[in-house]
Amino acid sequence: MRIEIAPSILAADFGRLAEQVREAEAAGADRIHVDVMDGHFVPNLSMGPQVLEAVRRATSLPIEAHLMVERPEHFLEAFAAAGADVIEVQVEATYQLYRVLTRIVELGKKACVALNPATPAEALVEVLPYVSEINVMTVEPGFGGQKLIPSSPEKIRRVRALAPGLDIEVDGGVDARTAPLVREAGANVLVAGSSVFGHPQGVGGGMRALREALG
Ligand code: DX5
Ligand code: ZN
Repeated sequence: MRIEIAPSILAADFGRLAEQVREAEAAGADRIHVDVMDGHFVPNLSMGPQVLEAVRRATSLPIEAHLMVERPEHFLEAFAAAGADVIEVQVEATYQLYRVLTRIVELGKKACVALNPATPAEALVEVLPYVSEINVMTVEPGFGGQKLIPSSPEKIRRVRALAPGLDIEVDGGVDARTAPLVREAGANVLVAGSSVFGHPQGVGGGMRALREALG
């Protein structure tokens, strides 16, 4: 499986967001990851559909909206209209996961479920037929720049065994040291915020370091 890198703009310089997104695309990013936080599901606020729309104007890469919000059902239309290609919802954030996922597909988008670190891999079993991707959170969501939780590779292995044919994304603490570990465990989409946008050699340097670590 080819490994895709999805830079998370949470770690970008918001004052020159479009430029940073173009740098990521030029450096070989496969997708752009947009982290949406509501101050309830996670203890932080980030960005909404207008920011995603600005990212849409800056790139032709696929964009994924990672909704770390309570009741994502209220925001699906807005993110679809803003130009998201993949909409990711946390399984913990809604009482009506089946309806949410089928609505995303009705809107013509790819549906993805995200699992918090303490949510068992088995939580995705009933919705597997409705998703194209699974996001295995490898940090407690809410902030960039955290360390990957050490037990994560084992969980990724369990998720890969449950979903052999789907995209498995890993989100949080992915850098040149941890990228080979999560790839080895079966992930094929790596979200990277601080290791790309915070790299001392810039976005290009961050992308190169990840690609080199992956071999
Ligand atoms: C965490 C977000 C992540 C975050 C990753 O709540 O979902 O996408 O941006 O950032 P790094 O790569 O810095 O851990
Ligand atoms: Zn994310």
